[in-house]
Amino acid sequence: MSVDRIHQLRQELHRHNYNYYVKNEPEISDRDFDMLMKELEELERIHPEEYDPNSPTQRVGSDIIEGFVQAPHVYPMLSLANTYSIDDVDAWFRRVDEGLMGQDVTVVGEMKFDGSGISLIYEHGRLVRAVTRGDGEKGDVVTDNIRTIRSIPLQLQGSGWPEFFEIRGEIVLPWAEFDRINAEREAAGEPLFANPRNAASGTLKLLNSAEVARRGLDAYLYYLLGENLPFDNHYDNMKAAESWGFRVSKAMTRLHTIEEVDEYIRHWDTARKELPVATDGLVFKVNSLRQQLNLGFTAKSPRWAVAYKFAAERALTRLRFVSFDVGRMGIITPVANLEPVLLSGTIVKRASLHNDDIVQALDIHEGDMLYVEKGGEIIPKITGVDTGARVPGAAKVTFVSHCPACGTPLVRVEGEAAWVCPNKEGCVPQIVGRIEHFVGRRMMNIDGIGEETAAALFRHGFVRNVADLYELTPVELMQIEGFAAKSAQRVVDGIAASREVPFERVVYALSIPYVGETTAKKVARAAGSMSHLQEMPVEQLEAIEDVGPRIARTIADFFADEQNRTMVARLAAAGVQMEVAASNLAEPLSDTLAGKTFVISGVFARHSRDEYKSMIERHGGKNSGSISKKTDFVLAGENMGPTKLEKAQKLGVAIIDEDKFLKMLENNCVNIS
Ligand code: IVH
Repeated sequence: MSVDRIHQLRQELHRHNYNYYVKNEPEISDRDFDMLMKELEELERIHPEEYDPNSPTQRVGSDIIEGFVQAPHVYPMLSLANTYSIDDVDAWFRRVDEGLMGQDVTVVGEMKFDGSGISLIYEHGRLVRAVTRGDGEKGDVVTDNIRTIRSIPLQLQGSGWPEFFEIRGEIVLPWAEFDRINAEREAAGEPLFANPRNAASGTLKLLNSAEVARRGLDAYLYYLLGENLPFDNHYDNMKAAESWGFRVSKAMTRLHTIEEVDEYIRHWDTARKELPVATDGLVFKVNSLRQQLNLGFTAKSPRWAVAYKFAAERALTRLRFVSFDVGRMGIITPVANLEPVLLSGTIVKRASLHNDDIVQALDIHEGDMLYVEKGGEIIPKITGVDTGARVPGAAKVTFVSHCPACGTPLVRVEGEAAWVCPNKEGCVPQIVGRIEHFVGRRMMNIDGIGEETAAALFRHGFVRNVADLYELTPVELMQIEGFAAKSAQRVVDGIAASREVPFERVVYALSIPYVGETTAKKVARAAGSMSHLQEMPVEQLEAIEDVGPRIARTIADFFADEQNRTMVARLAAAGVQMEVAASNLAEPLSDTLAGKTFVISGVFARHSRDEYKSMIERHGGKNSGSISKKTDFVLAGENMGPTKLEKAQKLGVAIIDEDKFLKMLENNCVNIS
């Protein structure tokens, strides 16, 4: 009985979900929706055997995704030929016309969404797999993350869908969500996403689908593929997909003449600014699937479709002066301070000039008229100079030779574009920047210390490096403007609580040059503890995934520095985590391969050799470098060495390919037949 109720609730919730997220026409109140969801959760708890990854309860995600597996695309994911003017699109239309020798042609106009391409596979009306574009041939399987996107149907509705099909579209982060997330990141002292596209693709690759669920991604679908599609044309197929529960853009329209195409472009060139999501152009596709087949593909893109890219918005304004910012790593960034100018709805006063090379390449002179562009980026950039408007005799803008904050002569690292202030321990913006970074949400997560407080703590002499935070008292904090007994105590409590922050984040919090969040995690896990990390030679550091020679060098240099060693020792004495928690060490996954010895040889398509090595270990097996009587299996990829092959055959060692190996793990059994 209650099992029937589970199925009925799932059906109902899928429908309400669609009404709410895709159609924006909820039929029931949020409260009633929550009640149904609670009821389902409760029933699923009592009936664990009814688990279904596509249940509406699973949209909240989980924080234990292990890593992504790659999967090949059924049909390669090609790109589109780009055009930049109405004339180019007209020329494409004429080529299509010629190619089809005068047949009637209908073209479908649609938005080019600026997000991350995705391929969704449905079997029997259920989502079974979601794969990123990757290199076009294969991509990452991100199904768990995709399930959290409420506008993607997990169970199709309506009728007429093929038993097996693929649908492609774009995962986007709506502007409103993008702004919200960046505001949160700014408050937490984290780097901002440059545009919704980066935010969307970064989010899809998160290993924590519960976090993905919180980010508010959305999806627009624009391409249906399969053997038994319901209609012989693109437009009707997409309309059918819409009726199955997919979000298909309302901007999709059939166009019959060049004039209609031109009109469509002119309309959306401005109207797109009203859309809730980022678009970077339009796409035109020949509607008839038969005609698409006739036109075919070039090596890179279909002849039956073309993209028209919107021009980046650009404004011309006068340079007031160039200032130089000092970052927490000591990197000096030149910034153009401009006469305020309106660009894509916001007033721009400052634009980054990135580094000396770019200042040189632009050849900027004082008082120049500069072109500012926004494109998809939120941080505007200077793209050119109107040299015709140059004030005669204006001096060339030169890079500073000394740190604008502390006066120390700048140094330029061989082979790099950045000038750096080497005065790590005495340059205020660097010290304050490191404190701000240390307390950030993704690092030590200490609330109540923003840029101003960090600067005040330094000015008052309370905090000169991050280890001092652990000796900070409420009385000291109360000497800083804006702090009362209660707020001071809260900060001190927050600092105390940060002793529990995992070691991986402690490594990230230290501000080791070039060591971002992901690298920090890998380095921390590879080292296991701070005492080990501090002593690791460059060669060992380089062996860590993601760490190249440059990062290895900077990590070693960081820990060779006496002041850094003292700071780390003080953090350790203060009780900050200095070891990877046992639960984060790679735990065994099974003992399927217990007692079996493997030799890996050749090149693989689905995982890297390192991944196979670690899979073998985590399932209880052993790796060995050479084939002997003790070898149980040779895991062979493409181009396995001939001597190895011969030896394996002579000794009668089983040779398996990667599919067989993965089957072993899937079936928890080494008996293969
Ligand atoms: S159709 C073979 N339609 O643009 C044709 N693509 O440069 C496949 N994109 O990788 C693509 N909006 O990620 C198509 N309405 C739209 C699109 C679109 C955005 C992206 C897509 C693709 C890239 C092509």
